[in-house]
Parts: sequence; C-alpha cells; structure tokens
Amino acid sequence: MAAATQVLACDSASIVFSSDDQVAISSPETLAALHAAAACLKDLLPVAFPTETVYGLGAIALNATAASKIFSTKGRPADNPLIVHVSSRRMLQTLLPQNYALSPSYELLIEHFWPGPLTLLFPCDHCLIPDIITAGQPTVAIRMPSHPVARALISVTDAPLAAPSANSSGKPSPTRAEHVVNDLNGKITIILDGGPCEVGLESTVVDGLHEDGNIRILRPGGITVEDIKRVLVNGFSDADTPIPQILVHRRDFSDDALEQAPTTPGMKYRHYSPSVPVTLMRMSNAPPGIEPLSPSAFLEDLKLSIPHSPDTLRVGLLMPSDSILMKSLISDTTIQWHEFPFGLVSEPAIIARRLFDGLLTLEREGVDVILVEEVSEENEGLAIMNRVKKAAGSSQWITIP
Ligand code: TXA
Ligand code: MG
Repeated sequence: MAAATQVLACDSASIVFSSDDQVAISSPETLAALHAAAACLKDLLPVAFPTETVYGLGAIALNATAASKIFSTKGRPADNPLIVHVSSRRMLQTLLPQNYALSPSYELLIEHFWPGPLTLLFPCDHCLIPDIITAGQPTVAIRMPSHPVARALISVTDAPLAAPSANSSGKPSPTRAEHVVNDLNGKITIILDGGPCEVGLESTVVDGLHEDGNIRILRPGGITVEDIKRVLVNGFSDADTPIPQILVHRRDFSDDALEQAPTTPGMKYRHYSPSVPVTLMRMSNAPPGIEPLSPSAFLEDLKLSIPHSPDTLRVGLLMPSDSILMKSLISDTTIQWHEFPFGLVSEPAIIARRLFDGLLTLEREGVDVILVEEVSEENEGLAIMNRVKKAAGSSQWITIP
C-alpha cells in the first residue's frame, strides 16, 4: 500500500509580505502546514502547493536529486525543462550569472507582472543550476508566483523551488487540491490546500533574450499579450530605443529548433488530455474542403461514433452559458447532458479559470465525450484556445441555421 497523502489547509488571508519581501503568517495552522511542507522539501521530497495559475509539484531547484523526484512522480519526460519559482528579487539575483544585467524590457515586465503568472527565460549559470532543471537548454525559466501560499512556502523553505503542474504527465493541470488528490494520492506526502486557483491556466512563458530585443511568447498564459504590449508601449514611449515587438509562437513566428525540442510548452508531448475524448466545436472559418454540419447532423454522427451504453450517450459540455450552439444541442433530449458552469462569452477570464476544472470534473462524472466550444483568440482567449487545441483529439465545424 502506498503511504497516505496529507492534505493541509492553508489560509491565504493570514499571509502577508512586507515591501522588503519578508513574510508574516498569523494563522498557527497555516504556519505549521508551511513548516511541515518545508521540512518535506528539505528531505528532498516533492510537495504539491497552490499557485495563482495551477497547483504545482515543487522540489528544491538547486538539488538534482530533489528535482529528479518531480520527473519520477509525474512520469515526465526528462527532456522537458522546469520553471524555477522565487519569492523575491533578491532570490532571483542569486540564480543569475554574475555579469548579467536585466534588459529594460525585463525590468518593465518584472515591475508590472511580478509577483504573478509571467515566466521569463534567463541565461543559465550551469555551475549553479542542475542540468535536470534546464534539460540542457542554455536558458533557465524563472517566475515569482503571487499566490500567498506559494510565495510563503518558497520563503519559509528559503530556497528556489522547481515546479511543473502537479498532475501526471499528459493530463489537464490541477486547479483545486482535490484534483491533485485524485491524481497523485499515495505518490506524494503533502498537498497544501489553498483553495481554487484564480487564473486557472499556466503562466505566460516569455523569451526576451534575442539580440533583436523582441519579446517572444513561447506559451500564452495568465498574463495576456495585450497586457504585455500595453506595458511595453507605455514604458518605451520616452525611450530612444524602438518599442520591442511582441511575437507569439506559431502565430507570428515559427522556429524549427523549437518545434523539435520540448522547450516550447506542449509542442512535442501530449498535453491537457482527460481519458475521455474531447472535441473542439468551431463555428468560425472552416478550412477549405470542410463542410460544417448542422447541430442535429453532428449529434447523429456522435451517437454512431462514440462508444456508449445502449440506452444513453452522456455528453459533457464546456460552453459559455449564453452559447447559441449549446442551446441548439441540448434540445436533443435523447442525450444525457452534463453542463459545467463556464461563464459568459464576454468573460474569457472566467472561462480560463474553469477550463481544467471542467475537463477533470466531467471526466470524473463518467461522460462518454466532452464538447468544448471555441472562444475568440483575444485576451485570455489566446491561452484558452492554446490549451483546448492540445486537449482536443478532433475539431468539428458547425453551422447554425
Ligand atoms: O503557471 C505555471 O507556469 C505552472 C505553475 C506550477 O507555476 N507551472 C507549469 O510548469 O506550467 P510546466 O512544467 O507544466 O510548464 C513549464 C513549461 C514547460 O512546458 C517547458 O517546456 C517550458 O515551460 N520551459 C521551461 N524551461 C524552459 C526553457 N529554458 N526554455 C523554454 N521553455 C522552457
Ligand atoms: Mg504542465
């Protein structure tokens, strides 16, 4: 029998950081939980903890043995590098090469978005950072999470923590402690429970290290491209240098080396997929040669193509509550519908927060298939569609008469 996993509740409201990055924790229960987790980390065992994006599986980053347990616990391929999490600017400085100075773009991005869901690539000091963290890349990815429990855990442990999402490799990322329990129970000692994650999708990964000074978005995430653009345009308005361009991987640039290596999140490996099939429902821009189906024709196909019990097909829906498509689909009463509350079309931040929860919850409800409706690829919609396209095994174009 695997050892039981302890779930320790933490009260974020009891954690306060001063302007010089010192942490004060007023709840004795939360303090005890953080100390227990820090002790576990110092024993080189991974701990699951909440961040504002998703739950992370953390280990001491500068210890290769500790970091290796992240890979074995998740079943993560060894060539997929990890993000290092820090609790202060001072801790960031300890990880950077001696002669390295932050660019004006990085200064602006850190000033506006740290702590928060933004990961930046930095040159890697290979004498300091174990190869297992960077998977042999010349760069190391670093972020400062804003979730009080995450930041306090790093601060109390007094060490940078490497942390991927706290799920078995290939699965949707966990956004509640319960998701971590369902996946990793018995495989880890401690899960800190800080409630549901506010952002719900992982951090934006940015590479600003190219000589052209441009900002490359390797993974869209919690900080939107629009947010980054606004900060850079304002920040550079009085400067002599041109405003850096913001280039989104696969939309604005491609890179053969990136496509081959697993460094651009999710390009090489299966990602975000529950064990039931997921279909992306699209209503815009059908590619040439693809004839969109009516909702009823689509449902007849679905009944034939998805294996299910003889009496009922059970279909999970991740669609905005004001979706016209959903209204049309659920008029078929021969299907058992499982609607997951998903926010309005005009609320992409709420849809982002609920996407992984929806996939994991519907999977547990035992549906036969999950239908996810596309959203517009603006603001949070860019990161939502990045995850949905990877989670979905197929796309279906629909036309509503
Ligand atoms: O929000 C997040 O970023 C969450 C929480 C726990 O902080 N973490 C997370 O980690 O999403 P993970 O391992 O699931 O995704 C990190 C991604 C990986 O896909 C990896 O390819 C990319 O960041 N990455 C890490 N180091 C990199 C590097 N040096 N160059 C390019 N990409 C890198
Ligand atoms: Mg992940």
